[in-house]
Amino acid sequence: MAKDFRPLQQKTQRIIDNQNVSTNTRLQTLCELLRDEIPYYDWVGFYFKNGDKGELKLGPYAGEPTDHTIIPFGKGICGQVAVSNQNFVVPDVSAQDNYIACSITVKAEIVVPLFVNGENIGQIDIDSNTPDPFSEEDERFLEFVNEKVAQIL
Ligand code: SME
Repeated sequence: MAKDFRPLQQKTQRIIDNQNVSTNTRLQTLCELLRDEIPYYDWVGFYFKNGDKGELKLGPYAGEPTDHTIIPFGKGICGQVAVSNQNFVVPDVSAQDNYIACSITVKAEIVVPLFVNGENIGQIDIDSNTPDPFSEEDERFLEFVNEKVAQIL
């Protein structure tokens, strides 16, 4: 059965609208919300372009700490999305040659770019310990999340 993302859209909107806390705190809260409420979202984080260095830098995240706090453009799923400007849905990470493993428990990944004024300035990255869990509804929901985040960056 299709997942109903509408309650999560409302919670996302409320977090974004909370001007009493910093942008970073709102992004952190958002990562925790998604990780807590979607059973197959096991690691949720934002990467942002790091100045003009040709690399991504880890921002707020929820889940196990990762060694991959800096990712060069073109490397791994995240680095590929930094240059392609396209969603990247990976149903089975073991089938990917250009992949950076953060944890051996991860089976699947989705990365959706984040645009501000039409420029790809970062991305949301989800790791799942469940094989092939992501549908187009996840893509649409994560695009919604990134559009909201773009408004407070
Ligand atoms: N797996 C990612 C690296 C980031 S971790 O998932 C947190 C990649 O291949 O780009």
